Amino acid sequence: MRYLILSDLHGNDEALSAVLGRLKRKRLDRIVCLGDFVGYGADPNKIVDRFRRMPRPTLAIRGNHDKVASGIDNGDTFNPPALEAARWTREKLSRENAEFLRRLPPGPAIVDGSFGICHGSPIDEDSYIFSDLDASVNFLYLERLVPGIDLFFFGHSHIPSIFTLDGDEILVEAVRKPRARLVLEPGKRYLVNPGSVGQPRDRNPRASYVLYDSGTRTIHFERVAFDVERSRGKILRAGLPSMLGDRLVAGI
Ligand SMILES: [Fe+2]
Repeated sequence: MRYLILSDLHGNDEALSAVLGRLKRKRLDRIVCLGDFVGYGADPNKIVDRFRRMPRPTLAIRGNHDKVASGIDNGDTFNPPALEAARWTREKLSRENAEFLRRLPPGPAIVDGSFGICHGSPIDEDSYIFSDLDASVNFLYLERLVPGIDLFFFGHSHIPSIFTLDGDEILVEAVRKPRARLVLEPGKRYLVNPGSVGQPRDRNPRASYVLYDSGTRTIHFERVAFDVERSRGKILRAGLPSMLGDRLVAGI
């Protein structure tokens, strides 16, 4: 099976369009989203509409911004610009799209008996995985919970990265190249972040995503440029905090 793994779309239609445009002729069996469809960006309805009408089977879990924007969570842990954007999004979402976000299941989930997905971490959908210590507690948890699953995709940090458990060692890699390939090796365990489609934060403003081929056990990391100034202009015209547009330009 060939999967497209998307995360942290954040209401950015230009970014999602660029990703789907690049993959138009690619053979894909399933599109998987790790959450945060909305929040920050000015096109929450377009993003949810497009995902709901994808021409291929989809699977998604919720992110923390989806919870606040759809009224499941009050956002008291959000910083002021994030909270302002979530409240703006709540007002703009159509009834159907708010319902779609409300009904998204929490992670973790297992896809086709093959690999796992979560938003923040397998232990807690709202926690981050940044360090080898964060990864190690999650590897321990997963070894007990799902011993047969050696690959988990996570989002939330918006940083394309790979954590590999090899025996007692954990290897931490930030993926910086515009294209990178990872072939999974037997006996190792992996936590992989595809990066963010709609709000990259690794000082690279290009949209980030991965393709996973479960037959060859190969992950491809890819980046694609989108019209950042157009996304920024929409954020400014919507009256959202200007820093949400400015950070897109720098990819931070
Ligand atoms: Fe996010």
